[in-house]
Amino acid sequence: MVDESRRRQYLEAMGVQLWLSRRAASTPNVEEPAVPFTGEPCTTVEETVVSAEQKWRQLEAGVKQCTACELHRQRTQTVFGVGSHRAKWMIIGEAPGADEDRQGEPFVGRAGKLLNAMLLALGFQREHVYITNIVKCRPPQNRDPRPDETAQCAAYLRQQIALIKPKIILAIGRVAAQNLLNTDISLGRLRGQVHRYGDTHIPVVVTYHPAYLLRSPLEKRKAWQDLQYAMSVFRQSLED
Ligand code: URA
Ligand code: SF4
Repeated sequence: MVDESRRRQYLEAMGVQLWLSRRAASTPNVEEPAVPFTGEPCTTVEETVVSAEQKWRQLEAGVKQCTACELHRQRTQTVFGVGSHRAKWMIIGEAPGADEDRQGEPFVGRAGKLLNAMLLALGFQREHVYITNIVKCRPPQNRDPRPDETAQCAAYLRQQIALIKPKIILAIGRVAAQNLLNTDISLGRLRGQVHRYGDTHIPVVVTYHPAYLLRSPLEKRKAWQDLQYAMSVFRQSLED
């Protein structure tokens, strides 16, 4: 017999949430005489497998209230993510900017317009993919998020990825790439190869940030190469 605390650990590891009834949580009195059958169910543990949509709602509500790092102080609102919960492509940027902080949606400013165009070039509408950022609150003056902030926020992204189980992750820019891959190798050297997210098999492909491409339009050609490369990795990952 697996004992109750071990069983809970397994279920939690699988993402199944479990609520113990108050009766089960209290120490059972083994001396108590057997209760006559009353017609009530004899289960002492109420297990509820929470639906994926409920998990999404819980996760988003958790982010909305989050004050785990300093970035909560100056935000207008959190920027959770947008797109299809069944997306095969996940696009992960750095952090909300001013437009995103105002509208509560990732990549809605100038860089977002270019990202939309890049996605369209691949044949995707924005709604077909899932777009989010490494951190969910805007860093003041658009500075890079600090390591303590990305560390505090990482669990949210981890859960988003676990819920979607994308076939490919496209990391947009250096901050996204380095945080997703837990490395300080430069963006230039991370491009053009398949990485894996954590200990999963989910492929990660890295490309330039559209904000950078707006400043350096000549690099767009290389970004297009990255996207085509990502598409070939995606096709391969569908066969795996
Ligand atoms: N830049 C990002 O990295 N993310 C956004 O959501 C907007 C701009
Ligand atoms: Fe919480 Fe992430 Fe916002 Fe920090 S950036 S307050 S960890 S949601």
